[in-house]
Amino acid sequence: ELDRMDAIVSLAKQRGFIFPSAEIYGGFRSTYDYGPLGALMLRNVRDAWWNFMVQQRPNVVGIEAAILSSPKIWEASGHLAGFTDPLVDCRSCGSRWREDQIEGVCPSCGSGDLTESRDFNLMFKTFVGPVANDAAVAYLRPETAQGMFVNFPLVQRALRLRPPFGIAQLGKSFRNEITPGNFVFRTREFDQMEMEFFTPPDLADRYFDYWVSERYEWYRTLGIPASELRLRPHEQDELSHYSKGTKDIEYRFPWGFGELEGIANRGTYDLNAHATHSGEDMTYYDPQTGERYLPSVIEPAGGVTRAMMAFLLSAFDRDEVGGEERTVLRLSPLLAPYTVAVLPLSKKPELQAVAEGVFGTLSMEFSSDYDVTQSIGRRYRRQDEIGTPFCVTVDFDTLEDKAVTVRDRDTTEQERIPASEVVGYVRSRLNA
Ligand code: GAP
Repeated sequence: ELDRMDAIVSLAKQRGFIFPSAEIYGGFRSTYDYGPLGALMLRNVRDAWWNFMVQQRPNVVGIEAAILSSPKIWEASGHLAGFTDPLVDCRSCGSRWREDQIEGVCPSCGSGDLTESRDFNLMFKTFVGPVANDAAVAYLRPETAQGMFVNFPLVQRALRLRPPFGIAQLGKSFRNEITPGNFVFRTREFDQMEMEFFTPPDLADRYFDYWVSERYEWYRTLGIPASELRLRPHEQDELSHYSKGTKDIEYRFPWGFGELEGIANRGTYDLNAHATHSGEDMTYYDPQTGERYLPSVIEPAGGVTRAMMAFLLSAFDRDEVGGEERTVLRLSPLLAPYTVAVLPLSKKPELQAVAEGVFGTLSMEFSSDYDVTQSIGRRYRRQDEIGTPFCVTVDFDTLEDKAVTVRDRDTTEQERIPASEVVGYVRSRLNA
């Protein structure tokens, strides 16, 4: 299992998915950069989420709120006071740990000389404007969620929405994690995908169950088998300061089960807190019933970068093709960096001209790669390794019969189809 982790970390670097940030300077504190294939895949994860959560639902809208944010937001939300992890110092070697990572001894040097745990706030603080004083303090958001809460009245009125409805957002969040690690599982800068679903309070329990099952299915349909997922309700003592109940969707990472996404019943906690702190009316007035109330909120909150890592781990496979071992990423075609690769059999100009034409039409609709170097077998292996579901080969027969060969990544089977139909073919396979 840990081999699979090493293999993914190495593949991610060699093939341009994920690099240690500032590697030429020896790296920078567990931060990562996403290379060309990583950037493509992250976009696909975000698009798959947006499509499922926003585009396909008439009662969910999306926003993009600011990352740099007013301390007033975080004071009201409870993050300045309560968004902490328990920190323990090792007096022998000076290393620092989250309390849940140690069992009486320092994991790094084995010493038992440890400090009492103290609350460490995870908020990233900075200053806005030229003067670094208290009045200039701002925070990098530690969750995207507050953007939805503080904008609730504006969004509701602007779009004349009536609960139950959702406000969703994709974007970066920042936490000064004590111990980032396990590759991109826990980093200080990461991407979230969150939705706040505002509902009449009497429907909250029903929507909680609904969103747990919707979100679970999302991971399933994008390729994570049920055997690698589990749902885990939070114990009372591990609930976040805002939550009345949370269920995590967990993934079986190589080191054990870890959270992919939490679905929380935040009740009226946040709207109530912002109403109290701002003095603004955060209630919803229902013109149909004449009722005024604070909606309850169900929140499915996931990590884009963490999900990407799980998709990569699940997709990683080794098998044998033609007596040779191959590495293959069996990624959902919706997530693979390239949907299709166009491979002219040789570099001859007459073949390349046709292949470039095929690439031209395919790339208008799909993320497409074009590769002419080395043997066709080598090129297939390279595409398998980065998860490209379809390879389209242009050969000398193409010049006569105007047909191309489409090779399937998983079965390695090949089909001959008219070049003019290749876009429709890929489209139908994607929707299958
Ligand atoms: N608004 C609720 C909230 O932020 P959370 O459980 O703290 O809840 C939601 O975060 C998701 O964000 C997590 O399930 C995880 O996927 C992702 N996430 C949180 N902290 C992370 C970190 N340090 N690195 C990578 N992903 C993280």
